[in-house]
Amino acid sequence: MKKRLLGILLCIVMVFALAACGTKDEETGGKSNDKDSDGKKTIGVCMPTKTLQRWNQDGDYVKKQLEAAGYKVDLQYADDDIQTQVTQVENMIANNVSVLVIASIDGDSLGTVLAQAKEKNIPVIAHDRLIMNTDAVTYYATFDNYKVGQKQGEYIEKALDLKNAAGPFNIELITGDPGDNNAKFFFSGAMDILQPYIDSGKLVVVSGQTEFAEVATAEWKTEKAQNRMESILSSFYADGTVLHAVMANNDSTALGVANALTSSYSGPWPILTGQDCDIANVKNMIAGKQSMSVFKDTRELAKQVVLMVQAIMEGKDAPINDTETYNNGVFNVPTYQCEPVYADVNNYRELLIDSGYYTEDDLK
Ligand code: BGC
Repeated sequence: MKKRLLGILLCIVMVFALAACGTKDEETGGKSNDKDSDGKKTIGVCMPTKTLQRWNQDGDYVKKQLEAAGYKVDLQYADDDIQTQVTQVENMIANNVSVLVIASIDGDSLGTVLAQAKEKNIPVIAHDRLIMNTDAVTYYATFDNYKVGQKQGEYIEKALDLKNAAGPFNIELITGDPGDNNAKFFFSGAMDILQPYIDSGKLVVVSGQTEFAEVATAEWKTEKAQNRMESILSSFYADGTVLHAVMANNDSTALGVANALTSSYSGPWPILTGQDCDIANVKNMIAGKQSMSVFKDTRELAKQVVLMVQAIMEGKDAPINDTETYNNGVFNVPTYQCEPVYADVNNYRELLIDSGYYTEDDLK
């Protein structure tokens, strides 16, 4: 009798213990089988490609900081291939990761696979690039993308003294991948500064290519930007027409522009903008071949992503500072926007070397 009573009591205790586990997992969005034998939860981190410097840094920083916070990390790169990224996400969902952190290749291509994540109650953080047309995104961590473009536009405005100079000045425009929601923000941020000068005739886009679709660069590829700029230079500037400025929305495209200028242009070097402070571009800045870049401290972005992961795992609200800017076609995604700053040859040391982002040797 005593033994039976003990048995019943044991059962009751076990039922309560299991129920408590269940509640915790529901609260955290985690799964009971997502822990490894050492008790650590795994976070799936998907990055677009290793070919651009910034995603290597993003991946490294997110991994290191998550590991320091006590998580295991499954970090994958997809070689800019959409299907590869979808498969990587699918596998992570099948492995019951606790949270997915995704920098998408094409913001529109993950809706179907993320419906599976939602079904399994796996929270999703969109990293740097917004994931579109799905309700499965929990948070978005990024930089103020509109401001990035504004800084590029303002730099040109100041460098050419557009407010006062008579002009006209010749300019060409180049942006990024049409599947990257950020590209639209960068482009409109820059164009909101430059368009009035184009309208008044002070700035002239000699190629006539001003629409987003015309100036976009698939996958932000340097070679594609270079090809387009070479053909513009040979069609519109070979007769000695001076090119005063190129508004390039990021560093990989700015690099293509600089290569094209080297191979196909003999006039004075134009003002050239960029974004990311990639090493090759900072070297170009030092060499006078790129005027500015926008510094987005990916350590800070990684920090915000880790805070989001931790809050999710603890069933708390993550720090956010924007609920209005980023509508993904379904809802306004709660966002943390980090602050971008402009960098040029005058302040790059303080921003990049003194802060430990690069060493002096990196830039030699
Ligand atoms: C990022 C930029 C980057 C570009 C190309 C954008 O989504 O915000 O920092 O230069 O992708 O990789």
